[in-house]
Amino acid sequence: MKVLIIGGGAREHALAWAVARSGRVSQVCVAPGNGGTAMMGGKVENVSIKATDTDALVRFADEKDIDLTVVGPEQPLEAGIVDLFRNSGKKVVGPVKNAARLETSKVFAKDFMKRYGIPTAAYNVFSDYTSAKTFLDGTTVFPQVIKASGLAAGKGVIVAESRDEAMQAIEDLFKKRIFGEAANEVVIESFLKGEEASVFVLTDGSVYRFFQPSQDHKRIGEGDTGKNTGGMGAYAPAPLVSEEVLKKVEERIVVPALEGMRKEGTPYTGFLYIGLMVDEGEPSVVEFNVRLGDPEAQVVLPLLRGDVVDALEASLNGSLATVNFEAQDRAAATVVLASKGYPDGYETGKAITIRPQLEELDDVMLFHAGTSFEDGRLTTSGGRVLSVTALGLTLRESIDLAYNAVDYVDFEGVYYRRDIGVKALS
Ligand code: AMP
Ligand code: GLY
Repeated sequence: MKVLIIGGGAREHALAWAVARSGRVSQVCVAPGNGGTAMMGGKVENVSIKATDTDALVRFADEKDIDLTVVGPEQPLEAGIVDLFRNSGKKVVGPVKNAARLETSKVFAKDFMKRYGIPTAAYNVFSDYTSAKTFLDGTTVFPQVIKASGLAAGKGVIVAESRDEAMQAIEDLFKKRIFGEAANEVVIESFLKGEEASVFVLTDGSVYRFFQPSQDHKRIGEGDTGKNTGGMGAYAPAPLVSEEVLKKVEERIVVPALEGMRKEGTPYTGFLYIGLMVDEGEPSVVEFNVRLGDPEAQVVLPLLRGDVVDALEASLNGSLATVNFEAQDRAAATVVLASKGYPDGYETGKAITIRPQLEELDDVMLFHAGTSFEDGRLTTSGGRVLSVTALGLTLRESIDLAYNAVDYVDFEGVYYRRDIGVKALS
């Protein structure tokens, strides 16, 4: 069968890697892919269509007789790519546009959680500066968390430590319009304390299967300091999400969320990302995303024991309950290599060298993000450049293997955090 993967980050490289391992797959197309998917060779090839060009993608899938499509990022989901593929009779993994509102509208997501009693931070919604200011004038408790309702490339959340910061944030959102229409509506919610984790399920709308719980490292600096990024590393399983916590996540979040979406006539299908805050064993939802996380995908996908294509198909044909979706009894860690300056300005076009010995390391996978491969040259083309994943018998071992593998890769100005997963070891 032929599989199309939409997106061009390390998450999509990991998807392509996992899908290509399936004996049933003869061809994997990645649109647009990156340098890593370009270099995979064999059955994997890049297709130069942007992830947001949904019309061109459905045309391509028709012409090429693609059997199964997997959508990586949120933008095409917001644009309704799943509706489009389904209307053309094509199999696709992801939520329809209206179900994708769980991520694309924070107002929808918060109101939805309230309707179904799903634990999340208390909140108010504002659609103009004056009413937000009046609210903040009457608020004594800080931090407050201020969020653009719409998609803002992961940057639309401000944790305001003081009234001044909060005022600045609503001015940036409503007056300076730094996120444009994404901040036509703004959520102001209470600050949740605790530790964050990411729990993903694959679902057909009713049946759901859990991936291993994982943890991202969002800040650029060691010890979780400095600016927010797209994610600097991840590991799984995350001990923070014990069996007991996972049970609560299932009963209080997953079951009511899927039931609620069905009730509202928009059954949720595909990957659901539950961004959790866990405080003294009590989980609540920080955010829903309607896709796998990046860099978390780079650890949860390699940990699957079975054939990922079987599972993806099972989520479309009613057999998800019985498909093998077990995780290996191992741990995984991934270290993101970024360009100097990220998440602010950075240079691109730097030559990347990968020592050939890396290929020989067992249980190490090099997933590319911002790379391009042209005329036999591999260069940097983004802020997050590579994601080095390793599997080990223990978390400690996977972390050591990943950092050992990092030494085999180099480019000018490479930056990475040295403390990925360390939090979970103590
Ligand atoms: P989001 O895009 O909603 O996940 O927010 C980005 C990041 O902001 C989260 O990963 C958290 O670190 C932080 N954050 C968001 N909402 C809250 C909250 N209510 N309490 C504490 N931290 C939050
Ligand atoms: N790892 C955070 C995200 O994918 O949104």
